[in-house]
Amino acid sequence: MLNPLAPLKRAERVRQLTEKLENVAASDTTLLDVQHLAVALNEREILKDVSFELNRGELVGVVGASGTGKSVLTRAILGLVPKTRGRIIILQADMDQLDYAEQRVVEQRLGVMFQHGALFSSLTVKQNVQVPMREYLDLSPKLMDELAILKIQMVGLPADAAEKFPSELSGGMIKRAALARALALDPDIVFLDEPTSGLDPIGAGEFDELMVTLQESLGLTVFMVTHDLDSLYTTCDRVIALGEGRVIADGPISAMLASEHPWLKSYFHGKRGRSVTQSQRKLAIVRGGDGNTR
Ligand SMILES: Nc1ncnc2c1ncn2[C@@H]1O[C@H](COP(=O)(O)OP(=O)(O)OP(=O)(O)O)[C@@H](O)[C@H]1O
Ligand SMILES: [Mg+2]
Repeated sequence: MLNPLAPLKRAERVRQLTEKLENVAASDTTLLDVQHLAVALNEREILKDVSFELNRGELVGVVGASGTGKSVLTRAILGLVPKTRGRIIILQADMDQLDYAEQRVVEQRLGVMFQHGALFSSLTVKQNVQVPMREYLDLSPKLMDELAILKIQMVGLPADAAEKFPSELSGGMIKRAALARALALDPDIVFLDEPTSGLDPIGAGEFDELMVTLQESLGLTVFMVTHDLDSLYTTCDRVIALGEGRVIADGPISAMLASEHPWLKSYFHGKRGRSVTQSQRKLAIVRGGDGNTR
């Protein structure tokens, strides 16, 4: 027999969870805890045993060779790819312990910028930014317009970009618009998958600066997959390196530089790595620092 009180109970559980998440998001604690995560696609195990934590206010870079599963990891955390083992604890809520409505309450607090297909091409920038608002909130069109314009300005786009379609924007503007969409619901954690790929070094540098400014002013916690060594040096508090389905290193850039792992050695000490390290050192000398970033 159907329990007539069930919807009430569910609403009460959602209310309690929302309150708990608010408290967790406001405290200096671990906001994301991935434990022994395994993911298999087409019967091939892509992630074997991935564990790491993300603390409030950290901007963590995720690196690894192409095809190691950085995007799969991002999608698995967001619940878009099923896991075969492990636990994903977001804002101290174990996603496996939640029902669908509760999972949506947690998901609403996450912002995402995917590696491919950053924007819907048939929607204007404003409509793109409003997609998460329409999905999760019940707001009036006027309020949604005001909020979208606010986000568009926040990422440094001119107000007239709001009514433009993606095809009318430069690559850098598209990235900014995608970031505005990721920030649409004032997320506690932002997931960025290769946010500067395809940009020239100046465009990428400007995007990095924007990220750091927003992270500091909004107190964001950021999980950023990147191949861009400049980004790693200038924006990240910590780096997580993926390889062979596991975390092969987790620590500040200095730990990456000291690692004996062959992939990390060739990545950070290869030709490209050396030129970035040298330019960082030059920057540090000009600034009178010691060469350590952030
Ligand atoms: N939907 C899918 N179905 C089957 N296999 C997939 C799927 N998505 C990804 N893979 C495989 O999973 C592995 C990891 O892919 P993923 O896209 O996560 O790599 P990545 O580390 O993000 O690489 P890149 O740096 O090139 O973006 C690859 O071998 C890829 O072919
Ligand atoms: Mg990828």
